[in-house]
Amino acid sequence: MTLTTIERHIVEEERRHGLTSGTLTNLLYDIAVAAKVISREVRRAGLTNIIGSTGDVNVQGETVQKLDIYANDLLSGYLAKSGRVCAIGSEELAKPIMVPEKQAGKYVVNLDPLDGSGNIAVNASIGTIFSILPKLGQGAATEADCLQPGRNQVAAGYVMYGSSTVFVYSTGLGVYGFTLDPTVGEFVLSHSRIRYPGHCKFYSINEGYASYWDEPTRRYIEWVKGIDPASHRPYGHRYIGAMVADFHRNMLEGGVFLYPRDNKDPQKTTGKLRLLFEANPMAFLAEQAGGAATTGTERILTITPTDLHQRVPVIVGMASEVERYENFVRQSH
Ligand code: AHG
Ligand code: MN
Ligand code: MN
Repeated sequence: MTLTTIERHIVEEERRHGLTSGTLTNLLYDIAVAAKVISREVRRAGLTNIIGSTGDVNVQGETVQKLDIYANDLLSGYLAKSGRVCAIGSEELAKPIMVPEKQAGKYVVNLDPLDGSGNIAVNASIGTIFSILPKLGQGAATEADCLQPGRNQVAAGYVMYGSSTVFVYSTGLGVYGFTLDPTVGEFVLSHSRIRYPGHCKFYSINEGYASYWDEPTRRYIEWVKGIDPASHRPYGHRYIGAMVADFHRNMLEGGVFLYPRDNKDPQKTTGKLRLLFEANPMAFLAEQAGGAATTGTERILTITPTDLHQRVPVIVGMASEVERYENFVRQSH
């Protein structure tokens, strides 16, 4: 049996590729450490509420925080003090945290500290998503450092708090997955060089919004449901309401995740998911696993962000399905 911990894997990968600084390695390891702490909190989420007698304060006299705020404060606080980061953008914060120049490092991190937060109350899978970018120029970092196109990412990944906790990341050299062994408190390599499999099994979309979909989405989903054994159709439908979990299943088993543009809110015809905190990191991982990610008309990783909390339509997963969706969009023009 070979046992590879995340720490050893990251160090060895770095050595294999002749990288010497070690800062990115350490930053990834920092995230893995924070993930273990969040995982511990997730595992006792239901209990914390029971133990906290007034609902707000637990037996230790600490305020019982919502898990998404807890995850945000823990991750951003831990990374801000690491000396490796100059700016932290978070879905939970209106503005990025700018690390004082004396303690600032050369990387920028964008975070969705707790993805799928609606699942917390029902003990279903949730996650943490991270995106790592290089600092742009000399001097103090600014918000512009967070607003870089996804193709600039030097690493991205997620943690999924599912039936076990897994840490999946890429530094642009393939996608690796680690499973947390809670008995020793280590992430152990469980998925080496993840690639989308040969054919599509699943599609993930909120079917309840079908009446709000645009024409290409409607036609693509109709195609997916058609009967054709040669193309393994109809595909199965899976949707858990946490992008991390749906993405993870689709990457391992073959599938596509869609949160398209819809016309539910006429003011917001952009979809729901955030470019910097959800779409970009997942697009980076998908491409690294041989998949693709699009808005329908544009490769996600080439979009130049204009706003920290910008939303985009996201179609991400197997390249064949992403291309097919784009074809449906082209045909409707
Ligand atoms: P978050 O909890 O970070 O706000 O993200 C939830 C996102 C995503 O994870 C999920 O796929 C999607 O919202 C579900 O939205 P709908 O309930 O509208 O389908
Ligand atoms: Mn999210
Ligand atoms: Mn979130």
